[in-house]
Parts: sequence; structure tokens; C-alpha cells
Amino acid sequence: MNERLYRLYIGGQWLEAKSGRWFDVVNPATEEVIARVPDAGVADIRLAIDDAARIQPVWAQTTAGARSAILGRAARLMIERKEDLARILTLEEGKPIAEARGEIAYAASFLEWYAEEAKRVYGDLIPASHPGKRIMVVRRPVGVTAAITPWNFPAAMITRKLGPALAAGCAMVVKPSELTPLTALEIARIFAECELPEGVLSVVPGMDAAALGKAIMEDFRVRKVSFTGSTRVGKLLMRQASDTMKRLSLELGGHAPFIVFADADLELAVEQAALCKMRGMGETCVSANRFYVHRDIADVFVQKLSERIGSMGMGDGASEGVQVGPLINRDAVAKVKRHVEDALEKGARVSLAGDAPAADGKGYFYPPTVLTNVDASMLIMQEETFGPVTAVATFTEESEVIAMANETPYGLAAYCFTRDMARLFRLADQLEYGIIGVNDGVPSTAQAPFGGVKESGVGREGGKYGIEEYLDVKYVSVGGVANV
Ligand code: SIN
Repeated sequence: MNERLYRLYIGGQWLEAKSGRWFDVVNPATEEVIARVPDAGVADIRLAIDDAARIQPVWAQTTAGARSAILGRAARLMIERKEDLARILTLEEGKPIAEARGEIAYAASFLEWYAEEAKRVYGDLIPASHPGKRIMVVRRPVGVTAAITPWNFPAAMITRKLGPALAAGCAMVVKPSELTPLTALEIARIFAECELPEGVLSVVPGMDAAALGKAIMEDFRVRKVSFTGSTRVGKLLMRQASDTMKRLSLELGGHAPFIVFADADLELAVEQAALCKMRGMGETCVSANRFYVHRDIADVFVQKLSERIGSMGMGDGASEGVQVGPLINRDAVAKVKRHVEDALEKGARVSLAGDAPAADGKGYFYPPTVLTNVDASMLIMQEETFGPVTAVATFTEESEVIAMANETPYGLAAYCFTRDMARLFRLADQLEYGIIGVNDGVPSTAQAPFGGVKESGVGREGGKYGIEEYLDVKYVSVGGVANV
């Protein structure tokens, strides 16, 4: 592919960066430069916020029907362009093309959902304590918003924020990951074609994420920020948000336990474990990172799971049929290696070592790996690996495994497999996580609340919960009401 030149999308215009700087976008499967993008700086992000602030009162006054129509058109256009968008996504992020198609459909589903939800922003009339009064509660858009989005879902993590923001009547400035800016700019193109008023959406990628983030956080006009990324950066944003008292949604790191009881449907558990672990090569915040399997079924579970994961072909995600692509960059590979080496030094055993990386040595590949005999002293059981490594420990008692699962500062997703209904409800109550998949390894969907507890974040995205994050509750007390 010849490298393509992109532009920033600010205030309805396609612009170069004020600094004149550019950066390269690299295909993680081949290490080739596939595109060049203007390197936005603080002046560019301020311009985007100026435009958003100018249009905000106008956009807030549009009817829900008008906003819904734009979101609906954008969702349909995304689906019409699914193939092209998926190819771009795979080129810049690496995930297999079939998964990229799935992500585009997932991304469009947020726009479609919020096209409907825009029409259901209701208020309340509350009985007053005085006969001459009325208590009215209305919901109003919070104002200008910003999204800081990650590379692992270059489309869906934008639409999961943009859908509810636009539906609620908020303008949004998007700062996508510098590793995957192309899909983000293609989404901007779709909204431009759907005649979203200029300035309501800007997409401003740049290399200096810290400076861009700081500029967003310092600007009083930005009333809400939604961030998906690391817990470290989430904590920094939370500190920065306090100066201007911004609302925040933070979807941060996970370290998901995947618990398989002896009474589980084993075939289902193996299949869902493979899907959960290998989705996006393990580079998702909800990827299972710690497997706890009942001692009585551990050997057979590990054997079946190793066969299932071992049957997945690894290669350039752009080739049809490939099921495991590269990781995002060299640092990601180094982190996975570090986790595996640490586990092996401390006594873990290898059940699957996977295929060798690409023959020409290019690309950021790490072979799918299954480890057994792991324990809590190993890095892999303490922090998110973000890679295709399955680490399996064993347990005997329910209370013991619940304690191990909760023994972490993270609380995004947890999974458990059992046929025992009473146990299912005990686990749903006692696991300290925002999302629990019971006999389900892939619970994410547009209409359900996505988000974590503890250091995995605050706020929820998706469903009726997601739009609340972009709405202020306003109480109007009306006195002097006649004829009561
Ligand atoms: C994420 O990894 O942050 C999102 C995963 C999902 O939406 O399922």
C-alpha cells in the first residue's frame, strides 16, 4: 500500500497541524509506514475546543429527532463501508480482518442504539410540598465534551462515547490514540457526510498525548471527559479534572479472573475461554488474564483449551482466515515476554508454545501460549498482560476462588462457568467487578452498562446508563401556580 496523507478534522475543516509537523502510522504486522497524519499540538486542540464551544448552544437546542436522524445515518453509512473501514482498522491496529469487521459492526451498534436513546431523555414532575408550586426536573447536555480513546478498539471506543454525547446534545473533541488515528478520521468523514454541523465533532490526533490531554483538562469550557486507557493515566486525568471540576468517565485497566467450576459445561467453557482470551490477541481490558480452574477438571480443560488456541492461525491480520494477528508494537511484545519469563522462572509450565512468528522476522508477533502451575507470586497473576497468554491456576473451594478473584485493585470484568444456579447468584453478588460473564466469555454489547469498580474506573458506557454521563439534572421550581 502507498502511504496516504490524512488531515485533522477540526470545526468541519480538513487541516494540517499548525506546527506543520507530521507523524507516521505503522502497520504492526509488517512494520511498514501506511499513512502520515498531521501531528496536532496544543494550538490545534484549542482550536477544536473553540469550535465546539461556539456550536454547543446551537447543537443543544436541536431536536432529539434531528440528532437521532444524524446518528442513524452515520450508523448505516458505517455498515455500508464496513469492508473499507475494517481494512483500514486491520492495517493500523493489526487485529484479524474478520474481527475488524466485527468491530465496525459493534461500533455502528452504539450509534444506532443512541440514535434511539436520543429520543428517550425524559424529565420528571414531582409532587410539591406547597399547593402553589410545581417541581420540574429536566435533563440538559453537560456542554462541550472530550474523548481520549485507545488503540485496541479504534472504532468502537470512539462511537461508545460519541454516540451518547451527540444524542444528549453535546459537542465532542476526540483525541484518538496516535497509534490508530486513521479509523478515527474515517469516522469523522462519515459524520461530515451526514451533515453533522461543523464544530460538533473534531478529531485531533497527535504524538504528545500528555500535552494534548493537559490542554483538554485545563480548559474550563470542556465540561466532561471520557477516557479509555491505563489506570495510571486515568488517575492523572482525575487529578487534573479537579481544577475545573469536570465530569469524568474512566474505563481503565482490568485483570479479569475466569473461573471454571467442576460442574461447568466443559465444551462451552473452553470455547468461551478461547474467545475471551484471544479476542484482539488478548489486548482488551476485559480479556481474561487469570484462569482459576477446579482441580478435578484442570488437566482436561488445559488440554482442550491448548488444542483450541493452538488451532488458531497466526499471521498478518489482513489475510483472510488468520485468527491471531500481531500485537500493537514492540513494547507490547516486550511486556508479554516479561510476564512469561517471570512465570517460567517461578515454576510455571508450558502447555502450548504456539506457532513461531512471521518467517521474515517482521511484525510485532507473540505466539499464543498456555501456562499451567501458575501462582499469585507471578507478574502475570498480578497485572494485566494484554497479550495472547493463558495462565491457569487451580482451586478447590468456592470461597477460596472468590477471595483469589477479588484479591486485586482492579474490578472491570470477571467470568465464571457453572451449572449451579445458587452458586451463580452467590458469585454475581460476591465478585467485586462491574461486569460478570456467567457462562459467557464475551458479554460486551451496546445496550448493557460497560465499566468497572475500584481502580478499573468510574462511570458506565452503553445502554440507558451511558447517556446519563452526558446529561446534567436541572431542577426547576415553579411557584405562583394559579388554580390549585
Ligand atoms: C476495551 O477493551 O476497553 C473494550 C472491550 C469491549 O468493549 O468489549
